[in-house]
Amino acid sequence: MEVNSQNVLEVKALTKVYPGDVTAVNQVSFSVGKGEMVAVLGPSGAGKSTLLRCLNRLIRATGGQVLVNGQDITQRRGKALRQLRSDVGMIFQQFNLVPRLTVFENVLAGRLSHTRNPFWFTASVTRWFSEDNKQKAYDALKRVGIEHLAPKRADSLSGGQQQRVAIARTLAQEPAVILADEPVASLDPASSQRVLSILKEICKSKNIPVIVNLHQMDLAQQYATRIIGIEQGHLVFDGKVGDFTLDIAKKIYGEQFESAVFNPDLERVEAA
Ligand SMILES: Nc1ncnc2c1ncn2[C@@H]1O[C@H](COP(=O)(O)OP(=O)(O)OP(=O)(O)O)[C@@H](O)[C@H]1O
Ligand SMILES: [Mg+2]
Repeated sequence: MEVNSQNVLEVKALTKVYPGDVTAVNQVSFSVGKGEMVAVLGPSGAGKSTLLRCLNRLIRATGGQVLVNGQDITQRRGKALRQLRSDVGMIFQQFNLVPRLTVFENVLAGRLSHTRNPFWFTASVTRWFSEDNKQKAYDALKRVGIEHLAPKRADSLSGGQQQRVAIARTLAQEPAVILADEPVASLDPASSQRVLSILKEICKSKNIPVIVNLHQMDLAQQYATRIIGIEQGHLVFDGKVGDFTLDIAKKIYGEQFESAVFNPDLERVEAA
């Protein structure tokens, strides 16, 4: 594989075999550089979530390597593994906020790996964090445009707002790369556009690569700079959005093509 010093993430022959001999990710290799927004597309069961989960070690790969800023993370344990988790931000479909905590406290959780206190979830959460950490959490909330919601309980927010809190939490973490697994699958169209615009803006202005699993091809076409296609665990396409043609889409999605939305006439959305 070509070695590029700008690569933040390098994935080499990554393979995940689940018990029962299910090969969910099969010899997948690619690298991602600063400022790239990569959409991972593929039919249900193709291995998209498994791929992302191997990249932040939520699950352990069976084979291959994942390098983050040149460091192999596949064999890490203990403290080194925790460090990795702070380098790799993760955003989920269901937001994964702590419902009873405030928006601000949820975002502060993103600073956890930068504090020594392990009891953050006990009463009076905020007093355990330094002013610097609090400022970073506030800045992250501002960046996603919801600083006015800071004192609200997380579970009082709309889905779109909760996903913005989750993005702020990830930003507060100061990650080297952001992974997002179907971040807009539970959102209405307007909120979906907003969330992807925010991710794109972060990717461009902060130069943080974003890798996002998406079900909707049209959203990938609008926001991504690059598309990776996964089919039965194999990487079957890796190229610029403009090179992702109807024929390729049909090949990747197979029988599921009808339920995926391909729109060759969409205007691309550039970051502000
Ligand atoms: N914990 C697990 N144990 C065993 N098999 C699993 C496990 N998780 C996923 N699989 C299998 O691995 C394959 C890939 O699943 P994965 O969830 O990664 O696909 P996906 O592309 O994210 O699908 P979707 O679009 O539906 O979210 C599927 O065949 C799935 O059944
Ligand atoms: Mg999935």
